[in-house]
Amino acid sequence: MATSWSPDSWRSKPIVQVPDYPEPAALAEVEDKLSTFPPLVFAGEARELKKALGEVAQGRGFLLQGGDCAESFAEHKADNIRDFFRIFLQMAVVLTYAGGSPVVKVGRIAGQFAKPRSAPTEKKGLIELPSYRGDIVNGSDFAVEARIPDPHRQLQAYRQSAATLNLIRAFASGGYADLERVHQWNLGFVKDSPQGHRYQELADRITETLNFMRSCGITSENTQQLRTTRFYTSHEALLLGYEQALTRLDSTSGDYYATSGHMLWIGDRTRQPDHAHIEFARGIKNPIGLKCGPSVEPDGLLRLMDILDPKNEPGRLTLICRFGADKVGAHLPKLVRAVQKAGRLPVWSCDPMHGNTISAATGFKTRPFDRILKEVEAFFDVLRAENAHAGGIHVEMTGQNVTECTGGATAISETDLSDRYHTHCDPRLNADQSLELAFLVAERMKTERLNRAEPAVATGAA
Ligand code: PEP
Ligand code: CO
Repeated sequence: MATSWSPDSWRSKPIVQVPDYPEPAALAEVEDKLSTFPPLVFAGEARELKKALGEVAQGRGFLLQGGDCAESFAEHKADNIRDFFRIFLQMAVVLTYAGGSPVVKVGRIAGQFAKPRSAPTEKKGLIELPSYRGDIVNGSDFAVEARIPDPHRQLQAYRQSAATLNLIRAFASGGYADLERVHQWNLGFVKDSPQGHRYQELADRITETLNFMRSCGITSENTQQLRTTRFYTSHEALLLGYEQALTRLDSTSGDYYATSGHMLWIGDRTRQPDHAHIEFARGIKNPIGLKCGPSVEPDGLLRLMDILDPKNEPGRLTLICRFGADKVGAHLPKLVRAVQKAGRLPVWSCDPMHGNTISAATGFKTRPFDRILKEVEAFFDVLRAENAHAGGIHVEMTGQNVTECTGGATAISETDLSDRYHTHCDPRLNADQSLELAFLVAERMKTERLNRAEPAVATGAA
């Protein structure tokens, strides 16, 4: 691997999943414009996230990463952002309190617009059109005009990311995330659902604890940690022209940072070691995620880790495993062993969504909730058996009451899917399913913590 890197060095490498822009000059103009716009995040924040993930890598925390599969221009509404943030906070509280671990909160939000596709075209009847590649590239309507990649969409995605991030920052530090509001995050349709009741009980216990602390003089007015939360953004680094335009030299460190989000990840379809996406990611100093699907082999993974994290820096690399419930056992153990043997310490995170997508008889793309839970369980089992830390989950979820994944406590059936199927790409967990998953993960975290805390018993054996 060549050592010289620049924000545009990816341009001389082979690349897949690139949109076919009809007017390259218009694209270049948009990229030039973006490169003059203010950064969306600050390098210091990305460093802070890396540090927090470094703690997770060493077994002292848990990563909660989630949000839409694809953000959309049409759904850019305050209520959607608030509902997402609210359910995300609920999940985080469940993991922190019931799971007993600090939680690093990273949204798939404020930049998650570009989508890799398994086929370059989509066919309906006799008509074949370019695939939809996310709102930052083209439109999802099945129409010739909509599917033409339009570079100006990048400007809209940037503006939407800025507005979304602005509201989230306000929520995170302006009082909405105050732990004393723990009950108020349980409003809306979630309140009366089975998971809502379960959450209510947990919130009661937290309030009791806060009351006790208040009597001791610790309140959210005098303790910032109770009043505010740290929330980070992430998305797939797929549209490299956009990413390059927002990559800036940080004057504090003299390093390059992608400023389109705090953490970027490389998708399962674009992680070829000698290709453009890995080339781009290796030079930016943000925390990086790497999606690992069934085609990743130990040698290939170690090679990618050498390229992306040559200094073996804690928190730099999160391996986001997405094998499918029935494939985890065959793939994950050998990867964990190889990585441990190489002395590396990534964050191991589980994406139980992307390996469990099926087509329902009704034609909808869906994900059975029991398979999602099964993959998470299998992930925890493998890491426990290999004596490594199960460090996080990565989920596609929404704060809305959608019907996109089957199952869960409200038992969504395949015929229910058509009721509220709103995703612009992959099926997401609804708010209730998200909470249910959080409770399950919290249970596993607790078991892991208790197992670790148990002192080794001297048996007298050698
Ligand atoms: C995604 O996270 O939406 C995605 C496309 O994932 P993967 O690269 O793992 O298929
Ligand atoms: Co997806």
